[in-house]
Amino acid sequence: MIEVFTSREALADAAADAVSERLAARGPGALVAAGGSTPGPIFDRLSRRTLPWEDLTVTLTDERWVDPSSDDSNEKLVRGRLLVDEAAKATFLPLKGPGPTPEADAERADARLATLPSRAVVLLGMGADGHVASLFPGAPELVVGLDPDAERLCIPVPRPGLAPFVPRLTLTARAILRGELIILTVTGDGKRALIDRIAGDPAYAPPAATFLRQDRCPMRVFWAA
Ligand code: 6PG
Repeated sequence: MIEVFTSREALADAAADAVSERLAARGPGALVAAGGSTPGPIFDRLSRRTLPWEDLTVTLTDERWVDPSSDDSNEKLVRGRLLVDEAAKATFLPLKGPGPTPEADAERADARLATLPSRAVVLLGMGADGHVASLFPGAPELVVGLDPDAERLCIPVPRPGLAPFVPRLTLTARAILRGELIILTVTGDGKRALIDRIAGDPAYAPPAATFLRQDRCPMRVFWAA
């Protein structure tokens, strides 16, 4: 069921409220956040919320395998817009590490993600092609990436099909579905049509369909024009 908002600002307010509600109680918790353009306003709102940030771990649904100082880095986005003000007290778990390869970093992140608190909220985005995190349609990584029972929690994506064409690291469906709540935030008519098509056509199965059709983790879909 899609929750429709009258503006992107109202969507961002609602997403920040939904995350805050779930992570307001003391004790270990996690926020797993997407990159891209949609989460920025949500991060701005969350950073000012009075939550037990010192108990919370923030990590990413995916990352570009670039230096954290790069404008392509999701870590840079999160450090700049979420881990400031109140939220500066949170612990950050980066996916990009010292390397030397994307696979080495993915293995390192795999081990650290295994220790993430079960009380986790995932802020998920979706691309216009139906990708989620860095799980792209037709990609060879989908065999493991979309398997809810895969061994891995984080895998490398050496040759993503979308710009920026740098290697990526992505959480797998198993990692994303380990949370207590997924909030999928999408904007624009094109993505609304894609969500509706996934709901209406079982044969249509871009990566987002894995998450929209599962019953392992409660999911809310927020949409604004
Ligand atoms: C990334 C994101 C990516 C994003 C979608 C939607 O690293 O680019 O994690 O998966 O969530 O591409 O992006 P928008 O929110 O910009 O539409």
